[in-house]
Amino acid sequence: MQPPAPGTLRVLHLSDTHLTGDGALHQGTVDTTAALDAVLAHVDPVPGVGLVVVSGDVSEDGSPESYRTVRERVGSWAERHGAAFVAVPGNHDLREGFRQVLADGHVLGEGGRPLAHTMQYTPPSVPVSGQSLVAGFRIVTVDTSVPGAGYGEVSDTALEHLRAALTGDPVEHGSIVVLHHPPVPAPTALHEALRLQNPEDLAEVLDGSDVRLVLGGHLHHHSAGSLAGVPVLVAPGVANDSDVVGPYDEESAWVSSGALVVDVATDGSVWSTPVRVPRSEGDRRAFRLDAATAARVAEAAGKR
Ligand SMILES: [Fe+2]
Repeated sequence: MQPPAPGTLRVLHLSDTHLTGDGALHQGTVDTTAALDAVLAHVDPVPGVGLVVVSGDVSEDGSPESYRTVRERVGSWAERHGAAFVAVPGNHDLREGFRQVLADGHVLGEGGRPLAHTMQYTPPSVPVSGQSLVAGFRIVTVDTSVPGAGYGEVSDTALEHLRAALTGDPVEHGSIVVLHHPPVPAPTALHEALRLQNPEDLAEVLDGSDVRLVLGGHLHHHSAGSLAGVPVLVAPGVANDSDVVGPYDEESAWVSSGALVVDVATDGSVWSTPVRVPRSEGDRRAFRLDAATAARVAEAAGKR
């Protein structure tokens, strides 16, 4: 791949790693640690990465072991490439385990240097908020998870944090927001039930701000849109790839992994290259939920 243009921040955008602490297979089919290793190996030759992002559903079970897996694997990739490393919780994450290992999610700073954190107890009801500066860009993480639910919401606390971050000291090239539930419509009924409930509140904060880009996940499939004129990029999943052309009321996925390589220029121009990881075996279903089962999951995990 071509190197990034001078001054451009190149982001390796991963999402939905769904790592398990005990090595259990995700949906009974996918070894997600092996899937993460395969993605990291595949993108190893990508030059000039300055920031690695994991935009939520880092863990499937919320265990500290699963967060240690991402800390070790993604952290060592980032250190080796001289890149910062930032993660944000998604609906499958548990804030206790996340904080125990990844603190506020801003694990490595510019150049891959460890960021110092004062470890203090924060109750899991408080969203995981953080910000750091990478190559003149302010990286702000917004926790859209709702404890015990599958859908997403930007809480008042998270919105306040975002607003405060964006109105802080001006930065050279603007801000990049990282969250799990993207503010875009979803291709299946189940994902639509689990979508971000209040994109308009997020739009209000983005409008007129210095935010150049929003990075999200959750859909396990690459998509792109915009909110308040700001580009929104959704990374493909590491764990599996949603079947977006099947019946709207069913939910299924293929055993497949991908990532985005996103270049953000100093003038805010954005250029994204989706990367798929080739597999040696033929295409296999990761799982399939019939309409009744998908509706049950939507009822249990969506907003009532
Ligand atoms: Fe996920």
